Amino acid sequence: MAGPVVRIAALADLHCTKLSQGAFHSLFARVGESADILVIAGDLTDNGLPEEAAVLARELSALRVPAAAVLGNHDLQSGRSGEVAQILSAAGLSVLDGDACELQGVGIAGVKGFGGGFGRYALGPWGETMIKQFVHEAVDEALKLEAAFARLRTPRVVALLHYSPIQQTVEGEPLEIYPFLGSSRLEEPIGRYPVSLVVHGHAHRGRLEGRTKNDVPVYNVSMPLLTRTFADRPPFRVFEVELTDASGASDRSTPVVRGRRVTDAVAS
Ligand SMILES: [Fe+2]
Ligand SMILES: [Fe+2]
Repeated sequence: MAGPVVRIAALADLHCTKLSQGAFHSLFARVGESADILVIAGDLTDNGLPEEAAVLARELSALRVPAAAVLGNHDLQSGRSGEVAQILSAAGLSVLDGDACELQGVGIAGVKGFGGGFGRYALGPWGETMIKQFVHEAVDEALKLEAAFARLRTPRVVALLHYSPIQQTVEGEPLEIYPFLGSSRLEEPIGRYPVSLVVHGHAHRGRLEGRTKNDVPVYNVSMPLLTRTFADRPPFRVFEVELTDASGASDRSTPVVRGRRVTDAVAS
């Protein structure tokens, strides 16, 4: 028997500046009309400035549904990410960094992630200390994601990242920058937990969809990508997740864009 369905809106890479007042107000209002919850996959601000976060906080007043976010690399640019997170939290966002929250019965595990590349070409912790530190950062982010999953007891879990866990959704970007767009290390914990879907941003010129090797759907919800792909629609996607119990046979996550189903993705 079908259980209740939660509509999850997702977007990333807003890159809000000090001059962005009014730019996102109607977008957030539309999100509230189309979905039950919102997840934002990083790069909320352009330079990681508290002033930019304050502009976005005012825009968020138009949002009428609960929302969670992870920060992106741009949100760390000015070394003031703590202030940025605090301002956005005060505006009602659950800002996740290796932790989890529950929105309308859906578990959200969030971490920024990091680079390092994918599959057999992923950077290994070998040689110079700096290279080892780079790889350790990616490993740490993967461990944080695993810890976030471990805290959740909800039947449905969404992984919210800024960097991609798979190569497929960064394809379209220049090959030379793949290692800076994500890391396969993030894919490992996703395969160990019952994750319904993964959303990420960061790859503005990447691809909309891919799958982990365990067949979990991964969606790149970067706003520049959505704007280019769906020019006549607001730049967010909506995924429907059915809240059956863990043994439910009707497990699915169906991506729709502005209420129109675009594909049928059956989650494992
Ligand atoms: Fe971005
Ligand atoms: Fe980014």
